[in-house]
Amino acid sequence: MNSIHISAECYPIAKVGGLADVVGALPKYQNKTGLKTGVVMPFYDNKFTKANSFKVDYTSSVSLGNLEYPVEILLLDSMDLGYPLYTVKIPGLMDRENVYGYADDTERFIAFQKATLDWILQFHDKPEIIHCHDYHTGLIPFMVSNAYVYESMKKIPTVLTIHNAQYQGQFSFDKLNYFPEYDLSNSGLIEWADLINPLAAAVKNAWAVTTVSPSYLIELRSAANGLEWLLDNEKDKSIGILNGIDTEVWNPATDPMVSKNFSIHNSLSGKRNNKLFLCDKFNLDPEKPLFAFIGRLVGEKGAELLPQIFRNSLENPDIELNILVLGSGDPTIETDLASLNDRYKGNYNTFIGYDETLSHIIYAGADFLVMPSRVEPCGLNQMYSLRYGTIPIVRSIGGLKDTIKDISEEGGFGICHEFTDVDQASNAIVRACALYKDQKTFKSIRKQIMQIDHSWDKSAENYNELYQTLLKNK
Ligand code: ADP
Ligand code: GLC
Repeated sequence: MNSIHISAECYPIAKVGGLADVVGALPKYQNKTGLKTGVVMPFYDNKFTKANSFKVDYTSSVSLGNLEYPVEILLLDSMDLGYPLYTVKIPGLMDRENVYGYADDTERFIAFQKATLDWILQFHDKPEIIHCHDYHTGLIPFMVSNAYVYESMKKIPTVLTIHNAQYQGQFSFDKLNYFPEYDLSNSGLIEWADLINPLAAAVKNAWAVTTVSPSYLIELRSAANGLEWLLDNEKDKSIGILNGIDTEVWNPATDPMVSKNFSIHNSLSGKRNNKLFLCDKFNLDPEKPLFAFIGRLVGEKGAELLPQIFRNSLENPDIELNILVLGSGDPTIETDLASLNDRYKGNYNTFIGYDETLSHIIYAGADFLVMPSRVEPCGLNQMYSLRYGTIPIVRSIGGLKDTIKDISEEGGFGICHEFTDVDQASNAIVRACALYKDQKTFKSIRKQIMQIDHSWDKSAENYNELYQTLLKNK
């Protein structure tokens, strides 16, 4: 069996968030199971594409209304990723530094999707499964099953994985002329609330829908940014498959980015070394527990509450702690968080920006990681934390609920709170400080969490099983 993943992001080529980590790892683990799969993504003009060599696999062009753009499909020369990586180069549209955030994102991703399908169309051996990720590739299931030009691909099952239903990529029907020709009486299949909605279109047209955790699938039926009814209606073809992590990239024993490697056997000294590195770099006190936040500074992550949560904690006379923030996003939240630097000098610091290396050192050196998310389809940070011996403090939602068990429960190893709320998150930090004081329990939990297996092996099998079912019922 063979399949192809189509995505806007893929680590290490281009990463904005967890989508990249998933698409960068899942195919590698699927290939280990005997499946043959690869990834196709846009060719961005970024650090990775500048530093690596590619070979031209196919040349063509793609039309958008009256405009025609040249297309090149480039195959990454190196096979070190564990799967073939194809990029779609569309000069004038896709060859920019960032993944998203341009006024013509709609045009960019429609062109990417059409160019990808045109390329697949001329394969002698077409993939047996087309696997799309998020709204950026959400029009593909519709195009495959409805566009006249792709008629010969109509029977290929399509899978949509929803990593985040907040973003749906809606645009008006004025842009319908970008679509390949199809029977216009089927336009309802791409419409939601009078707009063309790529995520809704994918939910309607894909043969199967997956979400990145079982809890998120259930939550979407009551909170999906307007698609609740649709997701409820399509529940029979939907399944939640918990993400894994790439335990080869995220391995504290071999990770080249951390300041000192460690395993469960020398976790005490290894973590201490990374903590000292961070405390030195960010002017923090290594004798106090180190709490960290890593992530996009947006409402979904509960990030606008962080300044108040941190003020409460740093001013609480009953506890002592350090806090380090690594993130970027909403400029107001960035400013609010950075404004605490002077006030709490010596116990608090902020790094505004995106820094992959620093994130690894923080997972390795922190004692606790806070995630007061409002929405968390899966969340990878908590799983990276576990593997690096950092205890997660999470709001129990989505994938956080599926992966973290509170210390008050039998076998529990994390600190959970029910709502995204300043008082609850501040209390959770107080509980964490009490746990830190009880060094015997703290150290034993640290050892326990480093052994939890969240590698992709099991989830890769779950995806393969889903593919098999689709092929059987074809
Ligand atoms: P999301 O995809 O919603 O942002 P995830 O938890 O799935 O959340 O994944 C976030 C990924 O992005 C993790 O690999 C995390 O380490 C990384 N990350 C987020 N913000 C930053 C940052 N500012 N610098 C470095 N890595 C970051
Ligand atoms: C999304 C979600 C995050 C998830 C990631 C990978 O970005 O916000 O929770 O872990 O996708 O699936």
